[in-house]
Amino acid sequence: MTLRAPSRGRRSFSHDFIGRALRRRFFFRVVEQLSFEKPQRWAYTRGMGETAISSRVEAAPSNSTVRFHLHVNGEERTLQVDPRTSLLDALREHLALTGSKKGCDQGQCGACTVHINNRRELACLSLAIAHQGDQITTIEGLAGEEKLHPMQSAFVECDSFQCGYCTPGQIMSAVAMLEEAAQTIPSHVTPAVSRPPGLQELSLEEIRERMSGNICRCGAYPNIVEAIQQVQKAKEGGR
Ligand code: FES
Ligand code: FES
Repeated sequence: MTLRAPSRGRRSFSHDFIGRALRRRFFFRVVEQLSFEKPQRWAYTRGMGETAISSRVEAAPSNSTVRFHLHVNGEERTLQVDPRTSLLDALREHLALTGSKKGCDQGQCGACTVHINNRRELACLSLAIAHQGDQITTIEGLAGEEKLHPMQSAFVECDSFQCGYCTPGQIMSAVAMLEEAAQTIPSHVTPAVSRPPGLQELSLEEIRERMSGNICRCGAYPNIVEAIQQVQKAKEGGR
């Protein structure tokens, strides 16, 4: 037996289909003619921040840029940018140092961590122009010419990453964190602030707390801590 849709149904289906197609065409023609300027917020959510930030920088009139120098990874670099440019955008968009990553762009994930005068800082929360005369080190400048930094090697050996997006920030933070411990700087979980632990006494809890500003969405935390402990032990042995 052949089943057929009643002719009334077929007519109403084709009528609806053509009607919908015409309405859609009309709608898109109206939208095209309106030619909206895309709000920045759209670009922000679509492009993990980068589209919005670069369009913000490009949108500034050229006469509002300023020229200044930064010392990055041992070299003097010249920039001609909008004075509101963050250090992270200056590094990534203008100096092509894309090792420092943009995760949240609001100081919450640690992916953009760099060293400024040997202390860890979030590049997304710093204005580039405020760091003239400072020594800035990014992940690209951490290693020597031929050899990885011990923390980079430990991350590789301990398999401390999956996608790797957070890894430059984790490494920069870990290197500075061990240096802070060596200088007996206390942390939030230090029981006696007047007697902070040195590098030798740095407990698991201390390491976790001191690295808590660096988020890993892949959850590689146990291996990250293992890599840090490996470097910690090597430093203890070398003292
Ligand atoms: S990008 Fe700077 S803290 Fe997330
Ligand atoms: S390794 Fe993927 S976010 Fe950390």
